Amino acid sequence: MINRPRRLRTSPAMRGMVSEHSVEARQLILPAFVADGISEPRPIGSMPSVVQHTMDTIKRTAVECAEAGLAGIMLFGVPKDEDKDANGSQALDENGILNRAIRAVRQEVGDSLLVMSDVCLDEFTDHGHCGVVNPDGVVNNDLTVLLYAEMARMHAECGVHVVGPSGMMDGQVLAIREALDDADHPEVAIMAYGAKYASAFYGPFREAVGSSLQGDRKTYQQDPANVRESLREVFLDIEQGADIVMVKPALPYLDVLRVVRDSVDVPVAAYNVSGEYSMVEAAAANGWLDRDRTIDESLLAIRRAGADITLTYWALEWAQRHRR
Ligand code: PBG
Repeated sequence: MINRPRRLRTSPAMRGMVSEHSVEARQLILPAFVADGISEPRPIGSMPSVVQHTMDTIKRTAVECAEAGLAGIMLFGVPKDEDKDANGSQALDENGILNRAIRAVRQEVGDSLLVMSDVCLDEFTDHGHCGVVNPDGVVNNDLTVLLYAEMARMHAECGVHVVGPSGMMDGQVLAIREALDDADHPEVAIMAYGAKYASAFYGPFREAVGSSLQGDRKTYQQDPANVRESLREVFLDIEQGADIVMVKPALPYLDVLRVVRDSVDVPVAAYNVSGEYSMVEAAAANGWLDRDRTIDESLLAIRRAGADITLTYWALEWAQRHRR
């Protein structure tokens, strides 16, 4: 007698019954950009169908996310070029674009959607680095962490549910946790970008936020060659108070995602980044890939590798396409 695994693949009902993993809207987060000083949404050339939102369209998009059953929206602010400076000071202006967007979106959605924010300075600095740069060109860790803590406190005042420190500075999670607690915001959760690699896949994001970065982020983001280092990073973040840890990018780092999922007892998020999005969109636009099937398979693969939560630019359309 030969073994016949094909018996379990004979019909949709049979395949459905034995399916081991599935993507669900409740675990997806939409990363979204909101720009200062624009009256119409501005397309991002390298990310077809993704835009820089106006205050109006970000509010509408957040409502759609809630209606589609998504977990949350991760907000990134895009200031005007003339408002950028060496310290990224607009990040700490209560009327800065990101602080305004958090207030507006939270007011619009209440608790029907998790409002999340990027806690990082690269969108706000004129040199494009994630922190304050010393005269010798090195990003100053401890000074930057102080600014992140203040930024997170402001986001909490604006009504954010979850902060996402993405700058990869040492000690950033502890500083943010203490600042949130001191400001009487123990309820605000930290989704820490624990294992964040210095990746070429962030290319289109730099256009999305109008970043002016020269050089690279290799002195603070991780070397793509390393796996053990990710465990060290996520354990440090958990010790410092991270509620959720993230692996980023997602598809080129599924092995890292699996190792992290098997090693920690907090929820693990994966960020399906801009370059992963753009590759599929570009190939699909050329007729080289079946777009929807490729998207579905990509998100399923991230889930299978161990992501409890996935940030993806396809979150809203995925949820709308699979609405039950
Ligand atoms: C830093 C940040 C980046 C991304 C998210 N947060 C850029 C970087 O580290 O260079 C990239 C996300 C993406 O590529 O989709 N604020």
